[in-house]
Amino acid sequence: MKTETVTAIWDRRERSRIAVIERAVDLLRNGELVALPTETVYGVAAGALNSVAVAKIFEAKERPGFDPLILHLPDENWLERVAKIDGRSSGLIEKLMTQFWPGALTLVLDRQPIIPGIVTAGLDTVAVRMSSHPVFVEIISAFGEPLAAPSANRFGRISPTTAQHVFDELGERIPLIVDAGPTSHGIESTIIAVRENRIEILRRGPITSEQLAEFGEVDIVRARKKVSVPGQLPSHYAPKTPLRLVDSAESFVPPPNYRVGLLAWNAPNPEERFAAVRTLSERQDLREAAANLFRCLRELDQLDLDLIVAERVPAQGLGAAILDRLDRASHDSDIRGTRG
Ligand code: TXA
Ligand code: MG
Repeated sequence: MKTETVTAIWDRRERSRIAVIERAVDLLRNGELVALPTETVYGVAAGALNSVAVAKIFEAKERPGFDPLILHLPDENWLERVAKIDGRSSGLIEKLMTQFWPGALTLVLDRQPIIPGIVTAGLDTVAVRMSSHPVFVEIISAFGEPLAAPSANRFGRISPTTAQHVFDELGERIPLIVDAGPTSHGIESTIIAVRENRIEILRRGPITSEQLAEFGEVDIVRARKKVSVPGQLPSHYAPKTPLRLVDSAESFVPPPNYRVGLLAWNAPNPEERFAAVRTLSERQDLREAAANLFRCLRELDQLDLDLIVAERVPAQGLGAAILDRLDRASHDSDIRGTRG
């Protein structure tokens, strides 16, 4: 299959803009996949009420059938059609939606029967979110129905933050990529469940636990215990190159004849020990670091290095979500990463 990439920088001529939306919506209506930008990462979308279209997502991503997808809603009116809201939690859920929707917060709620089982992988719950990305909003509004859209990478690999990343992952597998430049957050949405007025963070992301704590008690569900949801598997997001997490690269001595890449938080000194260096944020700004994380990892991963060494970032706020991704990327790397 030939993959076409179309630009959707929205200050372009009205005609081309309408043509892009129409092309995307036509494909979606025909049960095809379209890669779309969101404010977090690029997603690969299918009409969520069309199980055959959704199955194509699993195929394109080579994603095991048991990993549920996030449902993206065109507007809040869709919420009650797809989810049941428990009366005891409805006040808190409404407050969270008012504050964070549209945006990078995904809510896990009890599902309604309208959603095909393939979307939720047979679970009784469904993960829902509303993207704030203007291009995504325009396309889903024109489509008029929920879209199932996981990150547009092959299963277990790094999420794409540019259209080129999507092409590298899914080129020749999907007909269309809508390119709106790099995504702004750079990491996937925060996923929460609300139970009896407590907020459980299932996946850390751009909406931090500190922000959520203003609305109620917050629990962070430990990834490693929850093997039932593969997005929470410890070894997710893995680059091909072994990756090791260190507090500071200052004291790291690469083994002889090893080509080591550094994913830096601190300004590297001296740099010569490393075959390549990518700095997450020169200004040590966690938001910028999150936005750069997957691009930097991907670039280092393409250099055929023997090892990537990543410096830990501060654990507060967005840093916790970045550390979570790095931790998973380093999982299983130990044996390969310490040979020699
Ligand atoms: O920012 C994002 O959330 C991006 C953009 C494209 O929206 N999407 C994304 O989707 O990251 P995906 O499929 O790559 O990750 C969704 C995660 C998976 O780890 C999945 O296991 C989990 O959400 N998930 C989906 N439905 C769930 C449910 N009902 N209960 C618990 N976890 C669920
Ligand atoms: Mg993903």
